[in-house]
Amino acid sequence: MWPQAAYEQEILVSRFFGRQRVLLNAPEAIHHVLVENAANYRRSPASVRILRPIVGRGLFLSEGDDWKHQRRTIAPSLAPRVMPLVARHVVLAAQDAVELLAGQAGQPTDLLAAMQVLALEIAGRSMFSLEMRQEGPALRTMITDFGLRLGKPYLFDMLLPPSVPTLRDLARHRFRRRWEKFMDSIIADRLAEVTPESPRDLLDILRAARDPETGEAFSRDQLRDQISTLIVAGHETTALTLFWSLYLLANAPAEQQRLADEVAGVDINAATGFDSLQRLPYARAVVGEALRLFPPAFVMVRQAIGDDRWQDIAIPGGSLVLISPWVLHHHRRHWANPDAFDPSRFLNGAPAIPRLAYLPFGAGPRVCVGAQFALTEAALVLALMLKKFEVRLAETAPVLPMAVVTTQPDHHAQFLLRPRAR
Ligand code: HEM
Repeated sequence: MWPQAAYEQEILVSRFFGRQRVLLNAPEAIHHVLVENAANYRRSPASVRILRPIVGRGLFLSEGDDWKHQRRTIAPSLAPRVMPLVARHVVLAAQDAVELLAGQAGQPTDLLAAMQVLALEIAGRSMFSLEMRQEGPALRTMITDFGLRLGKPYLFDMLLPPSVPTLRDLARHRFRRRWEKFMDSIIADRLAEVTPESPRDLLDILRAARDPETGEAFSRDQLRDQISTLIVAGHETTALTLFWSLYLLANAPAEQQRLADEVAGVDINAATGFDSLQRLPYARAVVGEALRLFPPAFVMVRQAIGDDRWQDIAIPGGSLVLISPWVLHHHRRHWANPDAFDPSRFLNGAPAIPRLAYLPFGAGPRVCVGAQFALTEAALVLALMLKKFEVRLAETAPVLPMAVVTTQPDHHAQFLLRPRAR
């Protein structure tokens, strides 16, 4: 996807059908676009066209004052103080998944599929307190169908102005109607239940959320779009983080043993799941390093609204600016031994991580609002998996990363799980 120069230079300018595209690798330039002059940049028209049918008018695609209102209202619902509640759902769902996998121990196991199902289960339970056994398969089918047929950028998506619909846009429109109906019915079922005094899940928290400046609450439609946004933005990215963490550990016996030793000494349960993260620094470091080597969000795309400039590079209004966590995390100038798996980079006492060269969750006002959620989930699931199993690959073919909306493995690699002696 990127030429060698991308991993060595600070700025790479190219043209795409007559329009300028700039890839930024210099931390100051990234700071300029994502932080200092963020108001001059918006999501690209292609992102809006492709994602609108599934995330609607939720936080991810909103802009300007609407975005400010949504962000202020949502952010407290995903703040660190809510994480003990999230951790409870994570631990319970992960314990069930580990039990299920234990039944297949010794046989080749598709850990990508297992992590996708688990991440969706966690999203469902944390949003709705629903076990996803009933809705899960339908939700997964719709999301997968969208990803495979409609959620990928095609040439016309990028070339035609948003006002000119493509054939695929018509299919996306039909998908939107089905999706709205599906999500509305899940939410309606859940809202029909008696509201408890203390919130059980993110739906309870989001319903009670108010914009701290205006006191406004989300309408029913906004609630649906926010929940869709959180599920879509959060579950595949976290499933991939887990898949790549397990893949890296399967190829690194010493690191895997170190993690197994760490988790053996920690009791991880639903009540104290969040607190136990303090005692799992190596699990968190493995997740940090997996996010560096295989960042699920491999590129962030922005369109300049008005003309801008960074040093001697002109960024005309309408041009695209790309910031690629994938490139930055493998960049020769930012990292020693950039392609090696070394979780100790993320342990206390290691040299500081280069500023704005590590961006798995982006930066600036639009930084991932679910980062705490994702990190809590990934470290706890990984710890529970490694507590129970020794993880090995059941095949020798390398697993290659592919840029398909997120950083996907090129095939469903098979693993062998061997229960650890207690
Ligand atoms: C490892 C997992 C995850 C990764 C790698 C990830 C990555 C990102 C990145 C890079 C962005 C910034 C995009 C940009 O600036 O263009 C972002 C935004 C966002 N993420 Fe995540 N994310 C993850 C998990 C989650 C989870 C679990 C949730 C929800 C619970 C979530 C919800 C969102 C939302 C709503 C935004 C848009 C924020 C805004 O525009 O203000 N993400 N994510």
